Amino acid sequence: MEMKLTVQKDNFGSLPDGTAVALYTLTNANGLVAKVTNYGTIVTELLIPDRQGKLGDIVLGFDNLAQYLKEHPYFGCTVGRVANRIAKGRFTLDGKTYKLAINNGPNHLHGGLKGFDKVVWKAVPQADAAVRFTYTSPDGEEGYPGTLAVAVTLSLTNENELRIDYSATTDKPTPVNLTNHSYFNLSGAPDILSHELMIAADSYTATDAALIPTGEIKPVKDTPLDFTTPKAIGSRFSQLKCAPAGYDDNYVLNSGGKRLALAARVYEPQTGRVMEVHTTQPGVQLYTSNFLDGTLTGKRGVVYRQHGAFCLETQHFPDAVNQPKFPSIIVQPGQPYRQTTVFKFTTK
Ligand code: BGC
Repeated sequence: MEMKLTVQKDNFGSLPDGTAVALYTLTNANGLVAKVTNYGTIVTELLIPDRQGKLGDIVLGFDNLAQYLKEHPYFGCTVGRVANRIAKGRFTLDGKTYKLAINNGPNHLHGGLKGFDKVVWKAVPQADAAVRFTYTSPDGEEGYPGTLAVAVTLSLTNENELRIDYSATTDKPTPVNLTNHSYFNLSGAPDILSHELMIAADSYTATDAALIPTGEIKPVKDTPLDFTTPKAIGSRFSQLKCAPAGYDDNYVLNSGGKRLALAARVYEPQTGRVMEVHTTQPGVQLYTSNFLDGTLTGKRGVVYRQHGAFCLETQHFPDAVNQPKFPSIIVQPGQPYRQTTVFKFTTK
């Protein structure tokens, strides 16, 4: 039997106000499966073969909508309107100062109190294994100017890629920085310390203790942040000066963004799974789930411990709205925002 690319729609429950939420199952010709809900466009499951061809779920998440509606650290979702931190939740654009929702100490994180991860998106299944999700963010939402019409298309290709195409248009100048916040664990072991990581970045954006950029772009050379050649993720944790231990850093990709280029590659030695991240974005945040602490229990009853997963959040740089030397994230009317990130899976 010839296998095809398919999309299946199922019910995933409803919000307290009765709004129905769906779960879309994308399957490619090789049997890979991605499940995505229109609540936050969360990738709830990603079934990828190991070197023996055995499928395994490589993302953290929950079995049901009710758990996603409770507090959780952005599992699998689209983050927006602006991913990462904005210092004091303030910025000035065309002479006007905007005050955003504050939700991370004194700062704004990942779009605010109710970001794009906590809204129900419209969903239209596409030909092949793809779904186009759209959401219109009203003028003033979480403090941001302008009505922003956002589209995120998730596709599973026969080249074993999960491809995410982002676009947005606005009626007023506004900052936009969209990313996907999947937590990956390529082996299913309790931590990702022995996953081997390469990041195609010679430098990173230095931050203060609250993870706000100082504005400096520093070389990774001779620091524990150097992943220019593959290194086990956990091999240099003891040399990091931050608390809690682990990485929570934005890398400045050598590609400079603009064209789709290899940003990172992760190899998991036990299962042989390899994940490559390609992106048009100029940066990627490496986050090793430093703040997971065993209080969340996910799919199949798995307890999510510290360092139980890693995120590679392709993005523009944190606090770009307040850092004149960073690439701008301001989107203008008539000039649509477009970015693409591809997660490609193979084995070794
Ligand atoms: C940030 C972390 C944060 C996590 C969950 C990551 O993108 O860099 O600092 O704890 O998201 O919110």
